[in-house]
Amino acid sequence: MKTENFDAIVIGGGPIGLASAYHLGKRKAKTLVLEQFTFVNQLGSSAGVSRQFRIPYPDEYMVQMALDSEPYWVELEKESETKLIDKVGTLWFGDPTVQSTEGNIAEAEEALKALNVPYTSLTAKEIEEKYHFKNIPENYTGLFQADGGSINFKATNEALLNLCKKEETVSLEENAPVIAIDQSGELFEVTTPNGKYISKKLVIIPGPYINSVINLLHFKIDATYWNMSSAYFKKNDPNIQYPTWFVFQNNIGENGNQFYGFPSVDWDHPEYIRVAPDFVINPLDEPSERKLIPNAQELGYTSDWVKDHMTGLDPTPEYTSTCLISLSTIPNKELLIDFAPSYVPNHKNIVLYATGWAAKFTPFLGKIMSDLALDGKTNFDITPFQLGHQFFKSTK
Ligand code: BEZ
Repeated sequence: MKTENFDAIVIGGGPIGLASAYHLGKRKAKTLVLEQFTFVNQLGSSAGVSRQFRIPYPDEYMVQMALDSEPYWVELEKESETKLIDKVGTLWFGDPTVQSTEGNIAEAEEALKALNVPYTSLTAKEIEEKYHFKNIPENYTGLFQADGGSINFKATNEALLNLCKKEETVSLEENAPVIAIDQSGELFEVTTPNGKYISKKLVIIPGPYINSVINLLHFKIDATYWNMSSAYFKKNDPNIQYPTWFVFQNNIGENGNQFYGFPSVDWDHPEYIRVAPDFVINPLDEPSERKLIPNAQELGYTSDWVKDHMTGLDPTPEYTSTCLISLSTIPNKELLIDFAPSYVPNHKNIVLYATGWAAKFTPFLGKIMSDLALDGKTNFDITPFQLGHQFFKSTK
């Protein structure tokens, strides 16, 4: 078995793991990324090729996080010479009284105002006239924020992988599941079927597979897992285009009744519009229960929404996909960025990112994780996300 020494080992080679390695590499830290599957796979929470970039959030610190992410996207686009976000804008609309898992429209307007982010308020009629929706109840309101867009997430992943390959201090290993983590003094010994690797720091970002890694350090995280469905609807009006959007509505029984969608984009079924439910009928207990085929009822409710409220589309889905999401058990499904709990030896040398919807923050999270690993701190305010005390549990 080979043994090598590193400044940092990143466990999890998805986009946020690669973004962390890229920033560690920029600081010339000798870095190894271990990916249990292959790089740029469709098995994690970022599956599905496109994700939404948005600035509206009901909490000011989340709006700030989105604003802080923007220069890191610009930098990544520049360094990879690839356009990664199609800025078609974010449309949030729906029942103004709904307090959903993603927030509330009026609260988002307040947070945008507080941070001087420009947006336009919309009536139900304007939502129909400007954005091609139909049969929108009169009491619905909306907001349009022009800086949101659809992220080409496959290209993001590939761009980060290529930049990591160019960094001379970054090594990449795929098909390398971590099977043991031991400690010797202040060093970590990480074992995969391919070798044993020694490091001063651990950066743990395996997405929904987090418990399989942190169990090796004798703690776990309380999370719930979703097999999140998605469907593609063919445009029967070739000129129809939508922004990225999200509709806030109260559930009707099992129908969670919240949906979101994307524009048609040239990198993903170009003649189709992707629409997805933001609810799950049967959450999973374990990531291993994940299926590649969406739940039929969730798809049915999504088709009904498309049929009743969208124009220019054939309401029968032709392609589908799923992604595997891990979410914290608090209502707004918060992100968790923290050090390992204090009962783990050398806990300040172990940095973790887990749970939540974070694709839109990818390059910025990479910067934060690299700061925390190398400096033990970051200049960005991560206190709202330092939630380890709430979610980490010892397994000893
Ligand atoms: C998000 O932008 O965070 C998001 C979008 C759609 C569904 C869930 C989350």
